[in-house]
Amino acid sequence: MTSNNPQTREWQALSNDHHLAPFSDFKQLKEKGPRIITNAKGVYLWDSEGNKILDGMAGLWCVAIGYGRDELADAAAKQMRELPYYNLFFQTAHPPALELAKAIADVAPEGMNHVFFTGSGSEGNDTMLRMVRHYWAIKGQPNKKVIISRKNGYHGSTVAGASLGGMTYMHEQGDLPIPGIVHIAQPYWFAEGGDMTPEEFGMWAANQLEEKFWKSALITSVPLLPSRSRVPVA
Ligand SMILES: Cc1ncc(COP(=O)(O)O)c(C=O)c1O
Repeated sequence: MTSNNPQTREWQALSNDHHLAPFSDFKQLKEKGPRIITNAKGVYLWDSEGNKILDGMAGLWCVAIGYGRDELADAAAKQMRELPYYNLFFQTAHPPALELAKAIADVAPEGMNHVFFTGSGSEGNDTMLRMVRHYWAIKGQPNKKVIISRKNGYHGSTVAGASLGGMTYMHEQGDLPIPGIVHIAQPYWFAEGGDMTPEEFGMWAANQLEEKFWKSALITSVPLLPSRSRVPVA
């Protein structure tokens, strides 16, 4: 983005000199310079060139209630003064974590009563993977650890997150996926439906899961759906 605003150029120089941006071609970014977002209100962003932009992505899909909410700023400022941080590791807890856990449990589906806090979706998925594997290990079924995912799915950028995701270009960075994660076709009729109708393709894509589920040589423990007459084949 070419700019006549010296401040924009200053920030872009800082980006070139010191910042590594995620999901970016550094050479291209250096040539173009990032758009500098300076402020936001409601559903709009403004950049350092004075452009007003409708934020159709809601941040990175995480600004569900819009920007510039006074009640959030006030609550954050109050908490920063009272107790800005403490960990939950060593048999301690604090009111915000406990009260938020209850609020989430109240709106979560039946049976989901406990909340484990992480800093991002990627960390959440990493933690979930380890927790699930450990859960089955202590239940005496350590083989029950295969996770079936979809090609081109996105589940984050950490090692487990990118492995759970199905993007080959992410797998190429860092020898992914890690063992125990397998991928099946994506339900994307527009690109892959071929001669099938959307309904036929939908059934085909659903059956991919069924097939992987029963045929995967890695699934050697008890059937996950015990009521079915079929048995998994090794
Ligand atoms: C379905 C899904 N899972 C995981 C993530 C990763 O979350 P984060 O970017 O907070 O690490 C995202 C992020 O867009 C996502 O859309």
